[in-house]
Amino acid sequence: MNKIDVVLGLQWGDEGKGKIADFLTPNYQIIARFQGGPNAGHSLKFNGKTHVLNTIPSGIFHENTTNVIGNGVVVDPVRIKSEIERVIDAGADVRQNLLFSKKAHVILPTHRLLDAASEHAKGDAKIGSTLRGIGPTYRDKIGRNGVRLGDLFHPNFKQKYEAIKKEQLALVEFLGYKDFDIIALDQEFFEACEFLKEFKFEDTEYFINGAIPTHKILAEGAQGSMLDIDFGSYPFVTSSNTISGGVCNGLGIAPQNIGDVYGIFKAYCTRVGSGPFPSELLDETGELLRKKGNEFGATTGRPRRCGWLDLVALKYAIMLSGVNRLIMMKSDVLSEFDEVKVAVAYKVNGTETNQIPYDLCNETVEPIYKSFKGWSEDLTICRKKSDLPQNFLDYIQYLETELALPIHIISVGPDREQTILD
Ligand code: IMP
Repeated sequence: MNKIDVVLGLQWGDEGKGKIADFLTPNYQIIARFQGGPNAGHSLKFNGKTHVLNTIPSGIFHENTTNVIGNGVVVDPVRIKSEIERVIDAGADVRQNLLFSKKAHVILPTHRLLDAASEHAKGDAKIGSTLRGIGPTYRDKIGRNGVRLGDLFHPNFKQKYEAIKKEQLALVEFLGYKDFDIIALDQEFFEACEFLKEFKFEDTEYFINGAIPTHKILAEGAQGSMLDIDFGSYPFVTSSNTISGGVCNGLGIAPQNIGDVYGIFKAYCTRVGSGPFPSELLDETGELLRKKGNEFGATTGRPRRCGWLDLVALKYAIMLSGVNRLIMMKSDVLSEFDEVKVAVAYKVNGTETNQIPYDLCNETVEPIYKSFKGWSEDLTICRKKSDLPQNFLDYIQYLETELALPIHIISVGPDREQTILD
């Protein structure tokens, strides 16, 4: 019996899900995004070129793969228009291979304004949002006030839009945010909606459930487990369920239809935006990780905060999603450090624990590290496990034992070729 496999991030996002989803895609006929929106930036590198996808699933460059934007995703017509144009330019058959759920919610221009206005109003306490309108759109969805993609086809769409806009502009004004031209935003939005209507829209839950018996399906997560709305470092989180539970309500499938869960993590940790990050390195080692790993946001260009791998957080994420296959990314970045560290436990207010504390934001969390001898060899040229240096093998052996799971794939560079299978 076929099941839907899942690929998701185990840290604070930016683990390299784009590369792996693209690498795994040839094994699947359907790739489906189940949450998030254009806050994501999935980088795919092949034939010497990098392609960044924000809302479109990572299978779009493979022929004969259907890419589903599920009901759990939030879609900005303006952003996806330019993304579609970029992807068509790069040779993908988007008209044939992209399918939207009519139930996915629409990011309106005022949602973006509200995101900016509320971050502005928060001052130093800001979330560090990507300002793509994600939070306000999900808030309207849950508040039963949202607009769905299927509404674009409704004769009263413009009236509905105007009513919501009026309400939201009042709020934006209340928050004191003035820096926008609503007429230009409206025009851009309606042009993008017309463009979008040319594509395929369906109740994709029927499509996906109907395809399970005959097709291999991969659900592609965005952001990371530690940004999950329920289990992440609240309130410094995104507004959707990024863990495997999100697949069920983000695509409309039953839990027993979930198969393998691929959990992706970097060989170290990064975080973009504000919020707690226990193993963050604020010294030159963190700076070196950022430089070597080119840790700048694919979506916003912001420098990412860097630190050592955190096993407390990783074990938590594995537990929450029932991960059974681990994938380690950017292993090559750790070469040339004299020592490589891993956070194995926390000291919270003086007491040692291996659990994530309830209030990660306000507790004093001090990581307890285990140290490994570094390696100087260049991993980017390794193509099989036996090419890898012994010190690095010792490092991953320790991780596999601690996490009680084998590391199924080791990535040693951005290209499809730079991928070592167990
Ligand atoms: P939002 O989802 O844009 O509202 O941002 C909320 C938090 O999640 C911020 O700290 C963002 O930097 C972070 N975030 C959102 N999307 C991503 C992502 O794809 N990768 C990494 N961090 C993200």
